[in-house]
Amino acid sequence: MKKFLDLISEEMMNAFEAAGYDRKLGKVGLSNRPDLCEYQCNGAMAGAKLYKKAPVMIAKDVAQKCEDSKVFLSVEAVSPGFLNMKVREDFTADYLNQMRKEPKFGLCTPKEPDHIIVDYGGPNVAKPLHVGHLRSAIIGESIKRIARYAGHEVLGDIHLGDWGLQMGLIITELQERQPELVYFDENYKGEYPKDAPFTISELEEIYPAASAKSKEDAEYKDRAMEATFKLQSGVPGYRALWDHIMKVSVADLKKNYENLNVEFELWKGESDVHDLIPGMVDYLKKEGYAYISDGALVVDVKEETDTREIPPCMILKSDGASLYNTTDLATIMDRMKTHHPDRLIYLTDKRQDLYFEQVFRCAKKTKLVEPETELLHIGFGTMNGKDGKPFKTREGGVMRLELLIQEINDEMYRKITDNRQVDEEEARRTAKVVALSAIKYGDLSNQASKDYIFDIDKFTSFEGDTGPYILYTIVRIKSILNRIKEQDGQNENALQDKTYIRCAGSEAEKALMLEIAGFQAAMETAYKETAPHKICAYIYGLANAFNRFYHETKIVTEENPEKKAGWVALLVLTRDILETCIDVLGFSAPERM
Ligand code: ARG
Repeated sequence: MKKFLDLISEEMMNAFEAAGYDRKLGKVGLSNRPDLCEYQCNGAMAGAKLYKKAPVMIAKDVAQKCEDSKVFLSVEAVSPGFLNMKVREDFTADYLNQMRKEPKFGLCTPKEPDHIIVDYGGPNVAKPLHVGHLRSAIIGESIKRIARYAGHEVLGDIHLGDWGLQMGLIITELQERQPELVYFDENYKGEYPKDAPFTISELEEIYPAASAKSKEDAEYKDRAMEATFKLQSGVPGYRALWDHIMKVSVADLKKNYENLNVEFELWKGESDVHDLIPGMVDYLKKEGYAYISDGALVVDVKEETDTREIPPCMILKSDGASLYNTTDLATIMDRMKTHHPDRLIYLTDKRQDLYFEQVFRCAKKTKLVEPETELLHIGFGTMNGKDGKPFKTREGGVMRLELLIQEINDEMYRKITDNRQVDEEEARRTAKVVALSAIKYGDLSNQASKDYIFDIDKFTSFEGDTGPYILYTIVRIKSILNRIKEQDGQNENALQDKTYIRCAGSEAEKALMLEIAGFQAAMETAYKETAPHKICAYIYGLANAFNRFYHETKIVTEENPEKKAGWVALLVLTRDILETCIDVLGFSAPERM
């Protein structure tokens, strides 16, 4: 289905052509003076030079050609040469009725979908999740869902940090604490115990303890590096321990991500490409891409047009150890082989900008990807506390994700039960759903690259540009529909079948209808620009338009059945679009709140 604004533009272009001007001048945009008009066209201004004519004359010529338009209710030529338009009520109503019938409300989807992998989350196994990982998960999940809704084949890959020094540290600390474990007996030939010798909470305590020790004790750190090396070379006891660490951690990670409504199709990690590294290194050497510099193996990635210093991409350290780069390049190679993606999207803190620039250039230059494979890094800003500094606990430590979520759940629960009798269990459940909207919307409504202030009071408010406000609007629509259903003893489908959206009867209703009509454009832009904040801005506008309509209209008590049926259709469409949009943002609405 064509986008609403495109249909309007086409009509205006036809008018330009009919009046003897270049049709390209007829492009229409949203009005920046909504008090005067709904849409505007500045083409006559641009045409003035071309036709050596006063712009207002051109505008008048064009306006005249719109007199019998099926699209425009009014077209005004105003000085110095703008065209101000309002669209016809029946044109808008027809468009909305068509949207109701079409899959995805008429959104155009590609015949040939792109294959996309989104690399997000990126937690490090056995290290507790902290708020830094929150943004990657939230934004990545939304980008994935938007691309999928836009009709593409998308896989989300968590890309676990599961192969680094932290694993060696844990193994070393375990050996200190329980040296008698069979895993450390290098002559052991039997089976290793199926149950892990630690729980998740022990594991979470072991890593920070080991990390702290390694900073003070060089000998301890050497042992941890040795353990990492042994693990990577495949010593069976260490591998068996690693399996346990993975099993216990991944189960815990799954639980955490599930609470965030974040779901990965692929649970791959750095370890998965370990065996591909030697082959890749040989290839890079053989093709002459990689060379030794100061003992390390590197690939030059600087380009003549660079305005900043782009250091070479290091493939192997001088001791032969691989790096973060190495696993990322091997992962790219693996992904190309297994999934042939057209596009790879990475979500990390923007401090990794330069890093990804190096990796991407290296992958292109060394032909690990096709020339047309798109590599995109979305670097997000920092989540700050109210003091403008990176978010911390009250005591000043790194805030753990679980605690943060708990805090917001509690705050939401308090708000929901304030002055109200609510069933305890339902209140807890609702609090969780609303809290998630507060966290996610608070994050996603900002342009990803910007830092933002995590403000619990603001994010959990039922008013303003917040997740709870959007949910509140959805719940309001649901409750009106329920009341009408009860009143008429009908179910929604029966109501829906009999009904269609009528011409707007008020300014507020028209404004709501025009907001709805902008759905495809909003979704398309959010996809093309990988910008979930565009969806937030769209639904905030839609929710505002709905609430204004609601306050001015007595829907439930309306006596004219036709009018009321038309409103039911309008409400259902508004609700469905809002729910679709929050679903691509990664949260949902409760039935009541
Ligand atoms: N584990 C990394 C970190 O915590 C993030 C991984 C991002 N993805 C990637 N392919 N490098 O910083």
